[in-house]
Amino acid sequence: MALLETVNLKRYFGETRAVDNVSLTIDEGEFVSVVGPNGAGKTSLCNVVSGNLMAESGQIMFKGVDVTHATAPERVKAGIARSFQLVNLFDDLTAFDNVSLAIFSRDDKTRNLAKLAHLDEAVSAEADGILGQFGLAAKRNELARDLAQGERKLLDVALAYALRPKLLFLDEPTSGVSTRDKGQIMDTIAAVVRRDRLTAVIIEHDMDVVFKYSDRIVVMHQGAVLAQGTPDAIRTNEQVALILLGSSGPDAFSRKE
Ligand SMILES: Nc1ncnc2c1ncn2[C@@H]1O[C@H](COP(=O)(O)OP(=O)(O)OP(=O)(O)O)[C@@H](O)[C@H]1O
Ligand SMILES: [Mg+2]
Repeated sequence: MALLETVNLKRYFGETRAVDNVSLTIDEGEFVSVVGPNGAGKTSLCNVVSGNLMAESGQIMFKGVDVTHATAPERVKAGIARSFQLVNLFDDLTAFDNVSLAIFSRDDKTRNLAKLAHLDEAVSAEADGILGQFGLAAKRNELARDLAQGERKLLDVALAYALRPKLLFLDEPTSGVSTRDKGQIMDTIAAVVRRDRLTAVIIEHDMDVVFKYSDRIVVMHQGAVLAQGTPDAIRTNEQVALILLGSSGPDAFSRKE
């Protein structure tokens, strides 16, 4: 069943066609990667779906409900959460407080958030559980600013996860980390997604990562969907290879080792 459906979604910036007539269906339980060169419109698509940016025209259906004009918080309530290409953390708070704040915001608690998190046993237990799921238990009391880049990326995903979404839309969760750390981050995310039967849409540049984890791959170019299909179909698509790597042929995606 379709969890998310976009119909002729459009968002331009002046002459720039950031999102250009994108019609996409994401089924429940799918793990989909969105790829494309720099400036292809991947982040803009994520922004429009999450409500951080409003669509100019077109429609966004989520669980069969039209959310095109819903605010970002309304979409969070509906079950859409996203992470950020440049992480969106409270640098001066600990990992634990960052997660607690996300839980509080989900629950609409407007009290003195960070301090009270320690006193609210349910929130505290949930925050620790989430930190554990993301491999960050040992970093609980460290300030977000002191975490390694890979840990910061995971914490940002954990904040989206703390909103208890049905759809996790992750904007480059492995950017800026080493190849080895990328695998660890993706394994962690994939385990959480599988365990909770979430639907995941992940923007990613590393095609090794994309081919390994995706059920389906969506290729964007100049704001539009250039191609979509299984990893095997995308791997052998010469037009995609040309766009992504500037060289055609099935060898374009061969592993680098
Ligand atoms: N707020 C904005 N104002 C003006 N132009 C924008 C804005 N946001 C994005 N753009 C432009 O829209 C196009 C798509 O940008 P977007 O950030 O969505 O690409 P992307 O696929 O995420 O790229 P990257 O892989 O580098 O993250 C680019 O040409 C970009 O310069
Ligand atoms: Mg981007």
